[in-house]
This record gives sequence, structure tokens and C-alpha cells, in this order.
Amino acid sequence: MISKRARNMAPSMTLGINAKVKSLEAEGKKIIDLSIGEPDFLTPDVAKEAGKAAIDNNMTRYGPAAGSLPLRQAIAKKLKEENQVEYAPTDIVVTSGAKHALTIALTALLDPGDEVIIPVPYWVSYPEIVKLVEGVPVFVEGKKENDFKLTFEEVAPYLTSRTKAIILTNPSNPTGAVYFKDELDALVTPLVEKGLMVLSDEIYERQVYGGDFVSVASLSPKVKEHTILINGLSKSAAMTGWRIGYTASESKLAKVIGDISSHLVSHPSTVSQEAARAALEHAQGDMEERREQYKQRRDYILDFLKDVPGIASVAPEGAFYVFLDISSLRDKVKGDSLSLEVCEALLDQHQVALVPGIGFGADDFLRLSYAASMEDIKEALHRIKVYMEQWQ
Ligand SMILES: Cc1ncc(COP(=O)(O)O)c(C=O)c1O
Repeated sequence: MISKRARNMAPSMTLGINAKVKSLEAEGKKIIDLSIGEPDFLTPDVAKEAGKAAIDNNMTRYGPAAGSLPLRQAIAKKLKEENQVEYAPTDIVVTSGAKHALTIALTALLDPGDEVIIPVPYWVSYPEIVKLVEGVPVFVEGKKENDFKLTFEEVAPYLTSRTKAIILTNPSNPTGAVYFKDELDALVTPLVEKGLMVLSDEIYERQVYGGDFVSVASLSPKVKEHTILINGLSKSAAMTGWRIGYTASESKLAKVIGDISSHLVSHPSTVSQEAARAALEHAQGDMEERREQYKQRRDYILDFLKDVPGIASVAPEGAFYVFLDISSLRDKVKGDSLSLEVCEALLDQHQVALVPGIGFGADDFLRLSYAASMEDIKEALHRIKVYMEQWQ
């Protein structure tokens, strides 16, 4: 009864952990939850007020399929001023979150059997979305010593006549690694020369600590033509529940993406669109302050980890994750999946929730989210240290 496509879909590892945390909490246990990829900050007041005003002003009816013009103008202005890429408002399609943006962008690009390069470790939803639209995920693993960042030479052997696109997450979830300008150029420009499209997921662009974020589309006019830029307000403006994302692409593609979206959701919530517009236009200061706080947390964690035996980490230059290398436990911990076993032990014995790397295609790792209070982070690190010390 259920389609092969749906049966093929893996459940979300992060949501699975979340369910376990909730059931332990229901038993009265106090869990420190560092598993979630959601800012611990609140939506800026200016955005909340704009949402309320939208309701009061009856902006509660159908709107344009590709999103309201004022919001698309605000996004175009942001992309020009912050990312040095010029798009007309009509090149932008507002979506119900970046996840929806990725799904319709891939629907617009792929025919059944078309291949999509997915760098490993990957964000959990990429392979599932590619399969859902009948594409074929092709996994390419970078080197640990290069923080898993890929080079063109590493990708080239995987290219076939069916390769249509690459999905790049910059900064990366789960590793926090950032491709800075030269690395990005060296990877993307030759891929574009070969005709590939780049789906550039830039949802963590505001959480970059070790240098300047560079948007793929700003590299050259040719790269821009081959890029579908994906972004949204969830992480940058702490607006996860409002569900606003967007695509920016060359105009023919934008038209198709907008048409697909119109059949799927008509358009995202008009109230949320107003809130997103206000956040983009008036909440820049809040966003910058948050970046500084994330950086302080990251620095604290990296410093603390120096004293934790058997654990190393990828250098996280962005996002709000630290990817913990626990390969030193490989011969010590028994079980089919190292990261699952260690996560379960941390949760059951020490009441700390992290995400097993196996969900991101990297079983030697655990993902720790520092979108949490400093107090929780300190206590969780202390417990992780106690857990690691027993193996020494
Ligand atoms: C890399 C990446 N892309 C996209 C998303 C989805 O964002 P949205 O809430 O806008 O759908 C997430 C959320 O965790 C993410 O980590």
C-alpha cells in the first residue's frame, strides 16, 4: 500500500533522539539536551510585533505564490548588501523554511535517476529529499584531517553523465566546518565548468567565527547562473517555528520553483512573511550580538575539550555545532554502531543528549549543539568528561 519511495525513507535521527529525551523527561529525569539544532534565543521583538500587526491588519488572505513583494525586496537587498550577489526580487521564491526550499529546488532540477553529490558528513535530510524526488544521492567523503572539506579532485572521480548537482552546506551541519573563499572557488568553479548545478545551503551564514562568509553565487557570474542559493530565517533570526526560507536563482529556474511551490503550499504563511520582512529590515543588531555569544560558547567548549581524554573535534569555524571525534573508543565500546552506543550511554547514565554521527554518515562522531545556555554546556561537558575518563 505504501509507495517504495516512502518506504525507502529513513526516519530522522534527530527527531528520534528528541522523542527519547521527552520520554525520559516524562519519567521525571532532568536531561541536558544538546541535540537540537535550534537557537536558544527568542525571535526578535520587531519581528513578533510585525507578525501581530499583520494579523490586526487582516493580512490573512492568499498572497502571491512566490512570496510577498516587500519580503522578496528585503531579501534581494540583504543578498546584495551582505552577500554581494544581485538578484531581482522576482528571482527569489519565499518558501516554508529552507527544507521546503531544498525540496522544490531539487524537484525543479532532477529527472528520475539523476545523481546528486552529497558531501559526507551530511545534514540528515539531504539524502532523503533527493530520494523522495527520485534522484540518486552520491556520497563523497572528505578527509578528517581537512575537516571533511572536499576538493574538486576528491569529487571528480564520482562525476558521471547523470550527475546534475552538488549540495553544499556552508557552514556545515554537522561539522561546523566553513569553506572560505579560496577553498570554495577551487571546489565550485571547476564543477560549474562541467555543467553541475550548486545547491548552496547557507542557512548558518551568520554563524561564522573564523573569517568572512562567502556566498557561492558571489564567486563569478557563471557560478551564480549555476547556483540555487538556499537560506532562511530559522537559524539567523531564531524563527524556526515561523517557517520562512527562500531560494534565489536565475529567473527561468525561479519561475519553475515558484510554480512548483504554488501547487504544493500556495505560499508560506502571510503573517510569517511579514515577521520575516521586519527581522531582515530591522533586527541586524540582534543577529550580530548572537553571533558573538555563540562564539564565546564555542571557544569555551574547544578549550574544555583539551582536557577530555580520548576526544578530538573538527575545527568548527561556523554554525553552532561541535563534531566530537570518538574514534578512540572504537575498540572499547561494543555494539553495531559506536556513535549510537555512546549516545545511549550518555543519555541513560549521564542524562546528556547528543546526536549520533551515524545519522550524518559518520559513525566515529557525535554532534554537540551549543545552541544552549552556558550553564547547561558546562555541566554537559563535565559529564562527558566523566564518561570518557572511565575508558582511559
Ligand atoms: C543545513 C540545514 N539546512 C536546512 C535546515 C532547515 O531549516 P528550516 O527550518 O528553514 O527548514 C536545517 C535545520 O536544521 C539545517 O541544519
